[in-house]
Amino acid sequence: MKKVMTISFMAVLAGCGGQGDGGGADSFQGNATVAQTGNASSTPSSSSSSTAAQSSSFLASAFQDGAGEIALSRLALQKASDADVKAFAQRMIDDHTQANNEIRQLAQAKGITLPTTTSAEDQAALDRLSGLSGTIFDRTYMDHNVTVHDKDVTLFRQQALSATDADVRTLAGNILPALQVHLLAAKAINGKVAPSAFLTNAFQDGRAETLLGNLALQKSSNAAVRAFAQRMIEEHTAANSQIAQLAQAKDVSLPSATGAEHQSVLDDLSGMSGADFDTAYMNHNVIVHGVDVFQAITQANSGTDPEIKAFAATVLPVLERHLETAVTINAVLEPSLLFAAFQDGKGEILLSKLALQKATDAEVRQFAQRMIDDHTAANNQIMQLAQQKGIALPNEPSAENALAYVRLSQLSGAAFDRAYMSRNIDVHAQDVGLLRTASVSEQDAQIRAFATAQLPVIQAHLTTAQQIGNRLNAAAQQSQ
Ligand SMILES: [Fe+2]
Ligand SMILES: [Fe+2]
Ligand SMILES: [Fe+2]
Repeated sequence: MKKVMTISFMAVLAGCGGQGDGGGADSFQGNATVAQTGNASSTPSSSSSSTAAQSSSFLASAFQDGAGEIALSRLALQKASDADVKAFAQRMIDDHTQANNEIRQLAQAKGITLPTTTSAEDQAALDRLSGLSGTIFDRTYMDHNVTVHDKDVTLFRQQALSATDADVRTLAGNILPALQVHLLAAKAINGKVAPSAFLTNAFQDGRAETLLGNLALQKSSNAAVRAFAQRMIEEHTAANSQIAQLAQAKDVSLPSATGAEHQSVLDDLSGMSGADFDTAYMNHNVIVHGVDVFQAITQANSGTDPEIKAFAATVLPVLERHLETAVTINAVLEPSLLFAAFQDGKGEILLSKLALQKATDAEVRQFAQRMIDDHTAANNQIMQLAQQKGIALPNEPSAENALAYVRLSQLSGAAFDRAYMSRNIDVHAQDVGLLRTASVSEQDAQIRAFATAQLPVIQAHLTTAQQIGNRLNAAAQQSQ
């Protein structure tokens, strides 16, 4: 599953930008439901007043940011000229509306009052954007989205890892993957509509590649991973000096900070070793190069700045080779059970929230809710186990899950239902295999016990998925 899907990720991300302006529109469209609390594991009235203050301040600022995002995106629906920008705006409205509903629910349960006013920062952005139109509007709106989601990813990740209130941790952890995909989409579309953003993104990604490559040389003992890291350091250092020259000539200021998605991977990786390190590192490379290739194709084909267009055409084959190699290496890596189960669980939650928004069949919707509840509970157990054993877990979605999200978000009605269930059959069949093996041969007794306890849960998911999938397929055949 992982192997096939990550290769398609390259095709989806790299392929659609090449068809000119409208072609890229498919890549990141659609809606994801973001916030939904899983099983409540702490009491509404917190005993600690500092815990209450922390929760209150996080929920309030997350809610206010969401409201600002919705207001700006409504403006974008009226004013944006690019199809990808419009689709992105609609998704932000849908996702952040749902997220804010969930935040409101949790806040109410905890007696927290949420702000009803727009933040000064968002008001300033609204004022600025109201006066713009056409391409300049698109670029400014997408630029803003990169900045805002960069902050969101950092904030939500921090809360998902260390909020003292368990319900807030769960809420933040369940929203995070969607925000990470928003950030990737924002960067990809920004680099598509703005040649200068293509330069700044490529530069920031290139520098992160060098940092990550150096870490990989210290930590990895896999020969293919080490060779890849060495190549990333050399080729991105070379590309970045070209970008720096071009940026100077064009008066584009290059970012000095590391982006949130790179930083979160750097943070995760610092605690990992062995196959887990290699998998998290290569997975990130698949995602980042997929986004880079998407931007480079668009700039090389239809960029409006001749020099940046020429540079994009030169760097494109380099990035394509990086992506292809990253996909090939990633496909054969086998991370630990906790790593795989945690990342798969996050993916299940991400896609099942999409299903809650998009599915039309009652049983499919019910199934999606059960996936969210069960995988939230399982991931909470995994986090506890990992903490006891000092194991670092991946917080970036797998490239395969990011791809599935992109694809499923483009479908609707019965076609969505069938595709979502068919994916659930594949994923759960794979997970049953992993858990069965681990329940017999896992060395660590506690992890073996976890696998043994989890196996019947996932087997039951598989059985239900097969039943629903068969019924939907039969109905589709009958209606033909
Ligand atoms: Fe967002
Ligand atoms: Fe690269
Ligand atoms: Fe499941």
